[in-house]
Amino acid sequence: MRALTVRPHVKNSLEVRDLPEPVRQEDRLLVDGLAMGVCGTDKEIVDGSYGWAPPGRDRLVLGHESLGRVRQAPPDSGFSAGDLVVGVVRRPDPVPCGACARGEFDMCRNGRYTERGIKEIDGYGSQAWCVETDRAVRLDARLERVGVLLEPTSVVAKAWEQVERIGSRSWFEPERVLVTGAGPIGALAALLGVQRGLEVHVLDRVTEGPKPSLISALGATYHTENAEKVVSSLRPDIVIEATGAAEVVFEAMSGNAHYGIVCLTGVSPAGRKLTVEAGSINREIVLENDAVVGSVNANLRHYQLAAEALARADLSWLEGFITRRVPLDRAGEAFTARPDDMKVVIALDASAGAA
Ligand code: BGC
Repeated sequence: MRALTVRPHVKNSLEVRDLPEPVRQEDRLLVDGLAMGVCGTDKEIVDGSYGWAPPGRDRLVLGHESLGRVRQAPPDSGFSAGDLVVGVVRRPDPVPCGACARGEFDMCRNGRYTERGIKEIDGYGSQAWCVETDRAVRLDARLERVGVLLEPTSVVAKAWEQVERIGSRSWFEPERVLVTGAGPIGALAALLGVQRGLEVHVLDRVTEGPKPSLISALGATYHTENAEKVVSSLRPDIVIEATGAAEVVFEAMSGNAHYGIVCLTGVSPAGRKLTVEAGSINREIVLENDAVVGSVNANLRHYQLAAEALARADLSWLEGFITRRVPLDRAGEAFTARPDDMKVVIALDASAGAA
């Protein structure tokens, strides 16, 4: 079978290779890969700045945004051949820490978790893969063209859960949310905000391409002015930050509403310095009971919430979200950004052509 492999920490080492077909173990599903989504983390791995190969090997099968169809399932597993499934990314650390022991591996305390396609376990970027039955999520058959969006949706389902749990520490009836960044994570965060009946605003720099129309099609408002202006005029109750741009992060923290909650989901590049008026920011967070929280990854509960959110979403909106499908043998093209890219997907099934 063909698989998309990379040598972590070696630039330009991406290569589609022939690997042996996986052999299904008792408690696992054997799955025919349909699609893998490409995100910023994959780009960092391909650029040589992130990622870890499995112990004792130098290459990693890439791919953590998955979608496949079950070829074989253990009897009584609750799965059957033909089911559409997505594999969970993270595995608990081997100790395990208290959070991992309780199924909250997304909150791992010792950092020794592993992640498929990212950290020490092969990913889902191959024509066939196996996954433990308790690390697979079944999707509505209607989602065949868009189910690859489940993993990024699980990341925003977790972010929303964090916001709501933090909000529930006192009276909390938020009205207005600002999402900073209209890339895939930002746009999906906006979708989940709209599904909650909130007034949703999205801030991004670009005025062209698919972002403005995808955001307005949700019934949300798209802004392109500078962050300071947008945050101070909206005074949002909730900010979901998805740019990782340091200036935007600090604007969000200092201009939000009283009892405001800022959830940070964007990973910033290290090494850039920014001068901030730290005293005022601290003062405002204290005097307004504000909260700032970071959020990464997702556990099984968030995948289930994400599956429900996708099932409720407008299918044609989700289809419009996937702006490019590249066949596996030309996978390299998926890593060269084009101006009209939103979510780029690599098609894994042998019959797939580009669309
Ligand atoms: C993935 C997460 C993962 C994180 C850090 C993100 O792109 O969506 O599942 O935990 O990268 O490796």
